[in-house]
Amino acid sequence: MTKKVTVRTLQKIKDTGEKFSALTAYDYSTAKYIDEAGIDLILIGDSLAMVALGYKDTTAIGVEEMKIFTKAVAKGVERAMVVTDMPFMSYTIDIPSALTNIGEMVKNGANAVKLEGCNDYILELIKRTVQMGVPVLGHIGFTPQSQNVIGGHIIQGKTDEDAKHLLNQAKQLEQAGVFAIVLEMVPEECGKYITENLSVPTLSCGAGRFCDGQIVVCDDLFGKFSDFKPKFVRKYGDMKSLITDCASKYNKDVKSGKFPNESEVY
Ligand code: KIV
Repeated sequence: MTKKVTVRTLQKIKDTGEKFSALTAYDYSTAKYIDEAGIDLILIGDSLAMVALGYKDTTAIGVEEMKIFTKAVAKGVERAMVVTDMPFMSYTIDIPSALTNIGEMVKNGANAVKLEGCNDYILELIKRTVQMGVPVLGHIGFTPQSQNVIGGHIIQGKTDEDAKHLLNQAKQLEQAGVFAIVLEMVPEECGKYITENLSVPTLSCGAGRFCDGQIVVCDDLFGKFSDFKPKFVRKYGDMKSLITDCASKYNKDVKSGKFPNESEVY
């Protein structure tokens, strides 16, 4: 039987100085293949708003959509830890409605949830969520759901003072009970500084080489999403060309009468 990745697995990886891998996934078959490839943590990221649903940013996606994608991904995964990103406004109104929405993700197959930010309210919510039995992945640095307050896609933690502020937030999240923290778009030195001063694992999304794990959006890695490509992403494939190529060959074959052939009919 496949051994499931849990919060303990990830902590052990950090404690032994190894690295873990994380990717987003939004559908059953992608989740199945990346799980089979050995990816340790699969995030149903709210990035699906842009890459799978064509919205302009993450603020447009809601609880009902995240539930559907969580269910699809969870069905494809045996080994990896499945984490659902709580969407904009689904956890910030009040604790009871947040806990209800978080519970819905777990009922649809999530093993944990991700919450963006760090303030008194979020810290209290993390404590209550963990008490309810749901592990929480923190997320600081650039937090896309607050991009209108931040004023765009801006690198965080650039000065010593900002890096200290981020470490302070990370420590508060750790104390509240998160099992790991995503650091998004911070300089490598800042990612290293936080990682070295924290007991729980850090997960880099553009935070450099010294974090305990790395996470990127799967469509960026596969070369499928082409509207923009962040600097920290490495394209391992060209799915955009593959899809266009297959579709145009099929288009030609249908129109020229080459598809279907004799062996493809009943
Ligand atoms: O939504 C997302 O994809 C994320 C990243 C950390 C990859 O939050």
